[in-house]
Amino acid sequence: MAYLSLSNLSKVFGTTTAVEDFDLEVEKGEFVSFLGPSGCGKTTTLRMIGGFEMPTTGVITLDKEDITYQSPNQRNVGMVFQSYALFPNMTIGQNIGFGLQARKSPEKEIKKRVNEMLTLVHLEKHIDKYPYQLSGGQQQRIALARALAINPRVLLLDEPLSALDAKIRVELRLEIRRIQQAMGITTIYVTHDQEEALMLSDRVVVMSQGRMEQIGTPAEIYNYPSTEFVAQFVGQLNLLPVTHVDVMNGTCVLAGQPVKFDHSFKRTISETPRLAIRPEEIQIGIGEGRNTLKGRVETVMFLGAVVRLRVDVGGVLLSADLFNERSLTLPRARDEIVISFPEHSCWLI
Ligand SMILES: Nc1ncnc2c1ncn2[C@@H]1O[C@H](COP(=O)(O)OP(=O)(O)OP(=O)(O)O)[C@@H](O)[C@H]1O
Ligand SMILES: [Mg+2]
Repeated sequence: MAYLSLSNLSKVFGTTTAVEDFDLEVEKGEFVSFLGPSGCGKTTTLRMIGGFEMPTTGVITLDKEDITYQSPNQRNVGMVFQSYALFPNMTIGQNIGFGLQARKSPEKEIKKRVNEMLTLVHLEKHIDKYPYQLSGGQQQRIALARALAINPRVLLLDEPLSALDAKIRVELRLEIRRIQQAMGITTIYVTHDQEEALMLSDRVVVMSQGRMEQIGTPAEIYNYPSTEFVAQFVGQLNLLPVTHVDVMNGTCVLAGQPVKFDHSFKRTISETPRLAIRPEEIQIGIGEGRNTLKGRVETVMFLGAVVRLRVDVGGVLLSADLFNERSLTLPRARDEIVISFPEHSCWLI
């Protein structure tokens, strides 16, 4: 049995079903993210694991013990909320020691643990300050230290970085992963930021409308999305209308030009079939054994590391991403070009 297990979990608020039919098995030391749009039930699921919300149906077990109806203290979990939620009238040291104080740990032990945690998040000098004297990033580090101080069995993080600016966010992401791996702590991380989920996680749960859409490693989710929702939510995706579909042989026609697709990747195909392909799979120029299409450049967007082209292929617009390099000669709008992509890179939805 997995270390943390949720089975048939659901939560209904009045007429709103926030979480439905949710099953998940998390191994000890694993880092799992819940990724999905606003209102899809991420926080509600996390709060049920933490004991801050009681499920309508289902069972939660932790280390073989049924914790479904235990209080948060009893289950010994650490939670970091979306807003830092530090106690404003307590010093940083008191904030970090709060959980241990509540458990009536000996003073000496608390002091030692607080210092350890401050070292862990590199904020040793701030022990006697108050939260308002720290920056947002520093406060969030303290919130993390406070959650970890009690040596929780599971660490629950609810969009802990969303209030911070982009640079600090990336820095703290790395910090969270470093600490998580150093401590080997089982972690559930809620985010609506796909880059964050892909970068941090051992496995990602993609959610939509209270349900799990797909669970897998970041590469599985990105390369083999099992539903259209996942394909569109994670990463950029071209969805191009096609005709004359032959599923058995993996052939179709895109804007009058023949295309071969990956037909080993089976799924139900809608009545208006579309070819799915990631922009980075498309290259300029002909390639041996690749699908080749004629098109015209509509726009060229220079984004730094990548250059995104919008290409008109016989009336169908698609995006193609080129890796930037200093010697790259950029195509220009209205250039007639040939693009190509391998058969295995595209699939039918
Ligand atoms: N206490 C509550 N009472 C009533 N409805 C609630 C309550 N908490 C959440 N909901 C509803 O449950 C659904 C899921 O909410 P939840 O907070 O879990 O979403 P979320 O995925 O965390 O979204 P966000 O990314 O915006 O934080 C929403 O429709 C929300 O309105
Ligand atoms: Mg939320």
